[in-house]
Amino acid sequence: SSIEQFIEGIPKAELHLHIEGTLEPELMFAFAKRNNIKVNYENVSEVKKAYQFNNLQEFLDIYYAGANVLITEQDFYDLTWAYLIKVKKQNVLHIEIFFDPQTHTDRGIPFETVINGIHKALEHGEEKLGISYRLIMSFLRHLDEASAFKTLEQSLPYKDWITAVGLDSSELNNPPSKFQRVFNKSIEEGYITVAHAGEEGPASYIWEALDLLKVDRIDHGNRCLEDEKLVKRLVKNQVPLTICPLSNLELKVVTNLKDHPIASMLAKNLLVTVNSDDPAYFGGYMNENYIAIARALDLSKRQITDLAKNSIKASWLDDTQKEKLK
Ligand code: ADE
Ligand code: ZN
Repeated sequence: SSIEQFIEGIPKAELHLHIEGTLEPELMFAFAKRNNIKVNYENVSEVKKAYQFNNLQEFLDIYYAGANVLITEQDFYDLTWAYLIKVKKQNVLHIEIFFDPQTHTDRGIPFETVINGIHKALEHGEEKLGISYRLIMSFLRHLDEASAFKTLEQSLPYKDWITAVGLDSSELNNPPSKFQRVFNKSIEEGYITVAHAGEEGPASYIWEALDLLKVDRIDHGNRCLEDEKLVKRLVKNQVPLTICPLSNLELKVVTNLKDHPIASMLAKNLLVTVNSDDPAYFGGYMNENYIAIARALDLSKRQITDLAKNSIKASWLDDTQKEKLK
């Protein structure tokens, strides 16, 4: 339809994407085979049947199990390259993506194996596909502060390859304040900061992310709408929210895409963007997310354009680079 072609045609940036969340079942079986690892499923359709979640934790359990097939630098390279090829076809011109080192280092995979594979693919993508990128190292908030500090330490030799640190995994009962000291140190080391907040957790976690972790963007942030003062602050400072429509639907953050608040967020002048989060698990990459939300909310071309423009505005490209993407 014309709205699909319109979405395919506009330049976009993706700002909320976990590289581990791009592990398609086909690739999972290929890695399992070459690494001699057993997966819990017989075939691809069995895997897809298992991807039904009632909340964030049910998803995370399956997502961390999936990551067990990632062993070698080549695996991380191939995973990242497959994602780049996908978004290239969707007119995504710039990406700022997460990786979760602790998911791998806790299994005995060296930090450098993970980052070398991802970095090589991203460099290759910039050179061969023209996709510019930034890399965000995300701490797992269900683990303790000491583990996050250790991860920060491991990242320091690779500082030039990493733009920002983030915070993800099980949100409830793991408030941003738990990582205030790690984020302070990260800022001292020159990293920008972001955090998942207000996906399942309360609006107070968004305040903490802003005030204690000094974040540049909020990942998700849906629940800001419960707090009028917070909305005012986010609007006034134009703090970007990286919204993930299909993720919100699959993790039951919204019960129906027709109830998704992104249109009213736009109307409130919140700097909202559309992203895919974990596309292999939630059924869609960037354009599928744009198309699903545009259809459900009957978005105008103007609203769709505003969302895409917001993604470039909210990125960490410099102003000249932003101009080129418009
Ligand atoms: N890790 C991967 N995707 C996530 C999400 N949507 N929320 C928290 N942690 C995640
Ligand atoms: Zn996420």
